[in-house]
Parts: sequence; C-alpha cells; structure tokens
Amino acid sequence: MRIILLVPLLAAATAHVNLFIGTVNGGNTFPGATVPHGMVKVGMDTDGDNFAGYDGRPEFNVTGFSQLHQAGTGGAVPLSNFKLFPVPECSAFEQCLTTITSRKTLRSILSDGSPDDSASPGYFSTNLSTGVRVELAATRRTGLHRYTFPSTSIVPRILLDVTNDGQLSTISPELTINPETGRMIASANFATSFGPGRYNAYTCVDFKGEGFTFDGPTEWGPYKINYPDKNGVDLSQHYYSWGSEHGGLLSFPQDTESPSGTTTILARVGISFISTAQACSNAEAEIGDWDFERVVSDSQDQWRDILNRVQVDTENVDAETVILLYSSLYRTHIVPGDYSGENPGWNSSEPYYDAFYCNWDTYRTLYPLMSLHDPENFALIVRGMIDIQKHEGWLPEAREVGNPQFIQGGSHGDEILAEFFVKFSEHAAELDVSADDLYTALLADAEDQPPNWNLQGRQANVWKEKDTTYPGGANTKQVSRALEYAFDDFSISQVAKILGKTADAAKYVSRAQNYLNSWNPNITVPGISDVAGFMQPRFANGTWNYTDPRHCSVNDPLMSTCFLNAIRRDGFYEFSPIVYVPQDIAHLITLQDGNARFIERLDWIFSDNYFDSTDEPSQQIPFMYHYADAPGLSTQRSRQVISTWFNTSLNGLPGNDGAMASYAFFFLAGMYPLPATKQFLLSSPYFPQISFFNPLFNSTTTIKSLNFSGNPANGTGGNVFVKSVKVNGEAYKSNCYLEWEVFTTGSTVELELTDNINVTCGSGKDALPPSISTGGYD
Ligand SMILES: *[C@@H]1O[C@H](CO)[C@@H](O)[C@H](O)[C@H]1NC(C)=O
Ligand SMILES: *[C@@H]1O[C@H](CO)[C@@H](O)[C@H](O)[C@H]1NC(C)=O
Ligand SMILES: *[C@@H]1O[C@H](CO)[C@@H](O)[C@H](O)[C@H]1NC(C)=O
Ligand SMILES: *[C@@H]1O[C@H](CO)[C@@H](O)[C@H](O)[C@H]1NC(C)=O
Ligand SMILES: *[C@@H]1O[C@H](CO)[C@@H](O)[C@H](O)[C@H]1NC(C)=O
Ligand SMILES: *[C@@H]1O[C@H](CO)[C@@H](O)[C@H](O)[C@H]1NC(C)=O
Ligand SMILES: *[C@@H]1O[C@H](CO)[C@@H](O)[C@H](O)[C@H]1NC(C)=O
Ligand SMILES: *[C@@H]1O[C@H](CO)[C@@H](O)[C@H](O)[C@H]1NC(C)=O
Ligand SMILES: *[C@@H]1O[C@H](CO)[C@@H](O)[C@H](O)[C@H]1NC(C)=O
Ligand SMILES: *[C@@H]1O[C@H](CO)[C@@H](O)[C@H](O)[C@H]1NC(C)=O
Ligand SMILES: *[C@@H]1O[C@H](CO)[C@@H](O)[C@H](O)[C@H]1NC(C)=O
Repeated sequence: MRIILLVPLLAAATAHVNLFIGTVNGGNTFPGATVPHGMVKVGMDTDGDNFAGYDGRPEFNVTGFSQLHQAGTGGAVPLSNFKLFPVPECSAFEQCLTTITSRKTLRSILSDGSPDDSASPGYFSTNLSTGVRVELAATRRTGLHRYTFPSTSIVPRILLDVTNDGQLSTISPELTINPETGRMIASANFATSFGPGRYNAYTCVDFKGEGFTFDGPTEWGPYKINYPDKNGVDLSQHYYSWGSEHGGLLSFPQDTESPSGTTTILARVGISFISTAQACSNAEAEIGDWDFERVVSDSQDQWRDILNRVQVDTENVDAETVILLYSSLYRTHIVPGDYSGENPGWNSSEPYYDAFYCNWDTYRTLYPLMSLHDPENFALIVRGMIDIQKHEGWLPEAREVGNPQFIQGGSHGDEILAEFFVKFSEHAAELDVSADDLYTALLADAEDQPPNWNLQGRQANVWKEKDTTYPGGANTKQVSRALEYAFDDFSISQVAKILGKTADAAKYVSRAQNYLNSWNPNITVPGISDVAGFMQPRFANGTWNYTDPRHCSVNDPLMSTCFLNAIRRDGFYEFSPIVYVPQDIAHLITLQDGNARFIERLDWIFSDNYFDSTDEPSQQIPFMYHYADAPGLSTQRSRQVISTWFNTSLNGLPGNDGAMASYAFFFLAGMYPLPATKQFLLSSPYFPQISFFNPLFNSTTTIKSLNFSGNPANGTGGNVFVKSVKVNGEAYKSNCYLEWEVFTTGSTVELELTDNINVTCGSGKDALPPSISTGGYD
C-alpha cells in the first residue's frame, strides 16, 4: 500500500494524509474518493468486515466499487449502493458470472505482501488480479470511475449491481438500459443501518472511451443472479420474482489503436435521493467534461484549502506524527455529508446535511475543531440542522437519508448548535444563521417530548417533572442519559446567557446540575474500598438500584458491553459508572474528597485498565488532571493514550472512527475542547509550532513551544510539560487553558516547556479552568 503524492509540494498538508488508517480492526474508515463533506463517497468494497467497504488485508476479495458509504460507524453496513464491477473476460455475454460471490476478485499483491491499492484526498486506485486497473474520483453528487482493461481483455465488460447494498435489504429494484448510448438508469429501496426506516436511491450511469470513441455498447442486458439476458433493456420485463441479485451488464469494443493494447473506459455515476432524472442532471452538471484529471485536481484543491489551514513545523518530529495529525484532520471532514438538493422529505432553500452518525460521537471534539478552522462549513451544517428541527420538530441526532436513527445518549444537536453560537454569535447573521431559530430549536429538544425518544429529542417530560431525578422508568440507559441530558442543558444555558435570557440561563444551568442525583457516595469498587462514590441508577421510588461500578467498563468482570443491542437492561450506555461531568469537574473533585484523591481516582482508572479508548464519553478523562491543578499529568496521560492506541497502521484506531479523528487531532495539537464554552484545555503540541488559520476572522493563531526537543516515544516523560504561557508576549492568566479570543484575534502563544511533570496551572485567581460551581463559564 502506498500513499501517493499527487502533489509534489511537501509543504502541502494533503501530502501527509494516509487514508488507509483504521480500515482494519473496526475503525471502519473510508479510504475512497470524496470532496470535503461530499454526499458521494465512491470507494472499493471488499468482503472483509469494514462497514465503509474497504479492507486493507490482501486476502479479502473485491466485490465492487460503490458510490455512497458512511465513515467510521458501527451498526450495520451503510450505503453500499450501486456497485460497478469490471468483467475483463467471459466466454460469452450470457456466460458471465454476475453475482457477488462468483465475480469477486483478489487484488494484485505488492512484493511486501500488501494489496496494490493507493489513495490520496480525492483519488483512489487499485490493480485487480484480473489485470484491470480501477481509479476513482468524485464531485459532490457524482462518482467518476476509470477502468483500464488489459490487452488480453478482448471484450471489456462492466456491470452495475443494483441490489447488493451491503445488507441485502433491497426491494423494488428497477433498471433500464439505453442500448444506443449504454446509459443505465436504476433505483431501489434500501434499509438504513442504525435504526428503522428505508430510503430510495437513484442512479444514472454513462460510459465513454478514454483515448478512443465508441457508439454505445456492443452488447447489453439486465441480469438476475448469474443469468445476463442479452438484448434486454428493462429489468422488470425480463424476470419473474426469483433470486435476489439484479443488475445490468454492458460489453464494449476494445481500443484497437491503444499503443499498450489496453482499453480505458470511463463510467460517470450520478446519484440522487429524489429521482433518476435528477441523478442524470447531477452527473451532467458536475462532470460534463468527462475529464478525470480535472475532477481529481478540483477535489484536491478543496482538500488543500481546508487542510492547509493547519500548519506545523516538523523539525524534530517524526513523519508518522505528521501523518497522524493530517490524516485525523482529513477524516474530520468526511461526515456529515452535504445532501443539499437531495432531501427526500421536504423542499427548502436551506442547506441539507445528512449522515449524522451520531452527534453523540461528534459533539465533543469534531465541531470544536471546525470552530478553529472551518466556520463556514460549520454554519451550513448548523443551518441544515435547524431546518430539520423546523420540519420534524427536533434536531437530528443520528440520521441516514432522511431517517432518524437510534439515539445513543441525549439530544446532542444541542451542543453542536451551542458550540456554534458560543463561538460565533457575533457572526451568526453574517453566516446566515438565525439566532432566534437556533434558540427555538434548542428549546424544542429541552422541553418537548417526541413520540419516540429513542429516535428523536429526549424523554423530556420525566426529566422536567422529576427535575431532581433521573429520566426514565427502568433499564433504559438511564444514568448515561441523565448525564448527557445535563450536559445538553448546560450547553443551552450557555446560549441563553449570550442572548441575555437570564431566567432561562439560570433554569438550564440548574438542570445541568441534575447529574448530582445519580451520585451515590457510598458505592465502592469490590475489593478496593478506598475508591468511593459512583454514578448509580435509581428506582422510580427514589431508592438505588445497586450497579457494580465496573459494569459496562472495558474491564467489566461480567463482560457486559452495554451497546444498544444489550436490550437496554442497563443503566449505562457504552460507558461505566466511572464517568465524568465535564460541566462541573470542580464539584466532582469536591465529591471525591479533593485534588489528591481525585488524582488517585484518575490514576486508578488508567492503572487498573478502566479507561476506554474506544468510547467518546471517556475522551476527556486523560485531561481531567488539569482541574486538580496537575496539568503535567494530563500531558503525560494524553500522550500515553496516543502512543498506546493511535498510529498510522491499517489497524491504527482502537475502535469505530466516529470522532476518534478529531479527538486524536486535539491531543496531538496539545489541546482538549469543552464544547459550548470559550475555553480550550492546554497541553503541549507534538510540534515545535502549530498554527490555525481561521478564514472567517482572516487570522492565524500560532502556538510555539520554546525549547521543544521532540516527543517521548512511549508518551512518558520528556521535555513536554508546560511551565509557563505567554500570549502576544505577555504572561497569560493560566498555563492550563486558552480563551477562544486568543484564536479569533490571531495571536502568538508561546509555551515554555520543562521536563518536570509537577507543573501547575499558575497562581492567579483564573488559573484553573472554569467549572459551573466555581463561577461558571464566560
Ligand atoms: C477470495 O477469492 C479467492 C479466489 O476466488 C478465494 O480462494 C479466497 O478464499 C477468497 N478470500 C476470502 C477471504 O473469501
Ligand atoms: C497499478 O498499475 C499501474 C500500471 O499499470 C501502476 O501505474 C500503478 O501504480 C499500479 N498501482 C495502483 C494502485 O494504481
Ligand atoms: C419539491 O418540489 C417539487 C417541484 O415542485 C415537487 O415535485 C416535489 O414533490 C416536492 N418535494 C416535496 C418532498 O415536497
Ligand atoms: C436494576 O439493575 C439491574 C442491573 O443493571 C437490571 O437488570 C434491572 O433491570 C434493574 N431494575 C430496575 C427496576 O431498574
Ligand atoms: C451513605 O451512607 C451514609 C452512612 O451510612 C448514610 O447516612 C447516607 O444516607 C448514605 N448515602 C446514600 C446516598 O445512600
Ligand atoms: C423501590 O422500588 C424497588 C423496585 O420496584 C423495590 O424493590 C423497592 O422495595 C422499593 N423501595 C421502597 C422503599 O419502596
Ligand atoms: C496501533 O494501534 C492499534 C489500535 O489501537 C493497536 O492495536 C496496535 O497495537 C498499534 N500498533 C502499533 C505498532 O503500535
Ligand atoms: C487577510 O489578511 C492578510 C494579511 O494577514 C491580508 O493580506 C489580506 O488582505 C486579508 N484578507 C482579507 C479578505 O481581508
Ligand atoms: C518509556 O520510555 C522511557 C525512555 O525510553 C523509559 O524510561 C520508560 O520506562 C518507558 N515507560 C513505559 C511505560 O514504557
Ligand atoms: C526553555 O527555555 C526557557 C526560555 O528560553 C529557559 O529559561 C529554560 O531554561 C528552558 N528550559 C529547558 C528545559 O530547556
Ligand atoms: C513531582 O512530585 C511528586 C509528588 O510530590 C514527587 O514524588 C516527584 O519527585 C516530583 N518530580 C519532580 C521531577 O520534581
């Protein structure tokens, strides 16, 4: 596997992106061709276990090149629609084997044993063992495939598979073939992958010779299972209802003039969720010129524009760290997808974003990273979310092609809108975001209970009525939801405060304290009596339903997983009673008997293996030493997390990518964000210098480490601890966090580093990062 440098400029951030990280071992990352937040994500599908299609292990076979895909998700295989597949040889049209099992093919293998695949932002290619080379490129709603058949392929053929969507969920497949031009028009109805609901998808596929011309296909016909029906033009007229695999097959003339004997055929694949006519018009509008190199270079320009906003000095930094940083930044811009013009639910002039999967994953780190360098795309996503609330009643949480999918925790559109507004309230009008509509959308989540709070909004009634207790009756991840609802409400209070709605701000900040009702100080870990106080579920009558604090943790003696499939008998969801309360860590420290005991608790989480590197609710834990005035310990922990669980290998992610990319990015940048606040926790970056360009402010903020001397290999020790901080030459109020203002004005932050881990946040009254109970967040 190679990372190809289509851009010879070493300085270009795009050259440091490795798209194959996390394609093995459950990262479920997508290494195909897409533009930033593109709807179309065209990529290779294999029969391995990556939900995003591609498996980097050479023993897995290629099953097709499909047009959509999700990235970094769990659930089931999403959006693996409309696979194309090159068939270089069969004795006769009718003899071609078209089912997924009979056509699947290995890739060519390089001398190091890896498959002959390569990818860079906006481009993917592979050489199949059949001798066909496949290259992929994309615009927002159209994929462009280039198939180069070997000279031995006397009749090059390409099939369009309408029914294999990764889940075999298809009903009502339709396909027509125009024998004059070879245009294939298809549609079907498919199942979503993380909840109830189905969707229609439409495609329009055209073919063209590259370097030679032909007038349409030489043979054509639909197929069912392994039976292509020559000269058929309409699937519905040629088969009865047996078998489950349907598609169309075309034969093309060989390019007899080609010097190398190869035949190159372009396939342009328009996609729509509205109609086949719109799939065709999308393709015609976006790729009218059929120029593969132009499509690649346009998408590279879009990627370069975004990725170059973060610049690093790489002196004394190994190449792997640079690749990890830019690959993480790249993966921050894959989802959600810009489906504007493709919303099957309603017509609107507002942008429409879909593929939220899920906000529970992304609200913590992905949107705060967008705040730093990409406010325009962030504003479009926020507008799209507000438009969904206007039409459906609640902000989206998880969503696939217009279908609300399962809720994991709270209503986390709240934090995303609040993050936007806390950071950009003064620019909201300029970015076309209505403050009134934004606030109305937040209140709907907070106050109005939807018919099914497993799919939308929250279980608001019980949360409001009991106001001091847990939400819910029994067994419905009640503790996790209570903690997440509390943070949702905290984020709403932050917006209310900016809008001058003092009473609302007080109400929601008070609801944000309801996490306290799940805190039972008397619970200890079996066998460890000195770690006391945990979150616990309660019965409806207020008494406690004892839950072992190790329950649902990565080190649970009963090995409960507490995923959604655990039939929701648990009080917890994908995290354990060993949790955190990001909005009021100062108070959590009080509950845990002060800084020293709190630090011991954090150390215990790591030393006894209770830290879950794969789950988003754990992401802040390595940085929580900051609140106990021990930021050096956060620096070391966060670096140990990176060195243990994140690397540039195929298996370099500990679990579903979800928001792992933006999380790893922040750790590498020496920061951790708290969404819907104006503060970023500060540690030392892995680079002597890192800068963020924010196009909205036209400003660049640079964080420089004086006497940077490299990163310790295993994250332990090193000259990496922040001893003092200056902003624009002046001593700063804290060594532990930076205010948002530092980034809006374009500042120079200078860190003095030391190898003494016992650094502190400083001695001023504002040295410790804010918490609700110590005065709140301004
Ligand atoms: C891939 O296909 C080859 C040849 O058809 C077959 O031998 C092999 O078992 C397949 N690999 C997997 C992982 O199914
Ligand atoms: C595939 O083969 C072509 C030569 O036919 C070569 O240029 C290319 O680098 C190979 N690998 C990939 C991944 O395209
Ligand atoms: C959107 O507008 C078009 C054109 O007027 C109409 O055909 C279509 O049904 C509308 N879609 C929805 C979901 O209302
Ligand atoms: C109490 O907790 C146990 C363990 O999680 C669970 O199986 C049980 O259903 C809970 N009971 C109630 C009434 O919440
Ligand atoms: C914890 O134990 C103390 C002493 O037995 C008792 O007074 C208190 O009510 C208990 N707290 C809870 C929440 O059960
Ligand atoms: C509270 O409810 C639980 C579960 O229904 C029950 O086991 C317990 O006895 C009740 N306690 C009181 C004091 O009513
Ligand atoms: C890379 O990261 C993965 C996932 O956390 C881990 O399993 C693997 O051991 C790491 N590989 C190396 C070489 O550190
Ligand atoms: C942005 O700032 C640069 C200098 O930092 C300046 O040259 C440029 O004109 C500014 N652009 C705009 C649009 O204000
Ligand atoms: C990390 O590396 C340092 C220096 O090589 C070594 O002293 C230390 O024991 C290592 N720590 C761990 C946890 O591996
Ligand atoms: C780092 O640089 C500062 C200022 O240049 C200097 O005072 C300090 O001694 C240096 N520390 C180390 C560990 O090199
Ligand atoms: C840091 O503080 C700890 C605990 O007080 C102490 O054991 C250690 O020696 C200190 N380390 C340094 C480098 O001063």
